[in-house]
Amino acid sequence: MNQLLLLAGAYLLGSIPTGLLLARALGVDIRTTGSGNIGATNVYRTMGRTVGIMTLVGDCLKGLVPVLVARQLGFDEAWVAAAGLAAFLGHIYTIFLRFKGGKGVATALGVFLGISPLAVLVALTVFIGMVAKWRYISLGSITAAAVMPVAVALLEGKPRVVLLTLAVSFLVIWKHRENIRRLREGTENKFKA
Ligand code: G3P
Repeated sequence: MNQLLLLAGAYLLGSIPTGLLLARALGVDIRTTGSGNIGATNVYRTMGRTVGIMTLVGDCLKGLVPVLVARQLGFDEAWVAAAGLAAFLGHIYTIFLRFKGGKGVATALGVFLGISPLAVLVALTVFIGMVAKWRYISLGSITAAAVMPVAVALLEGKPRVVLLTLAVSFLVIWKHRENIRRLREGTENKFKA
């Protein structure tokens, strides 16, 4: 029962569409502009730096808070990881938008900040390197997602956490399939600071 409450709470928190709500408060439906995604990149692109960073922080906290709360409440690491996964699934398949959510990068960042900060450091370094060289946030996200399971396996080694990472990384890359198509066609949006 407690586990069920934990997962439901994490899922519902993850489901809150931070970027959509912030943009809506400023009179914009973020789903109709830029890439149409509700995540920080598109909010940044459309609404500017401040709202973009607020979205990034909000989405990141949605992943981090359930992990920290689960640990604080004494759940074992498998349930802590499950709470992170539930929050992540809430973001990408949100109940508030008919299960059509974001791409999960910022929420995954929050989850893994709580689970393996060192692996995040590795993935973040790869992300920054890729974006600095190619100027595509999506390419940075996809590459970081691909690196993450390897980093977690080497740094944490716990099979359940590695499995969680594989699932999250697969879903992040799957959610970027439109970006992958645009990257291949040369029509992907470049990042402008
Ligand atoms: O985190 C999402 C990012 O990797 C791509 O966003 O808006 O360019 O599809 P967007």
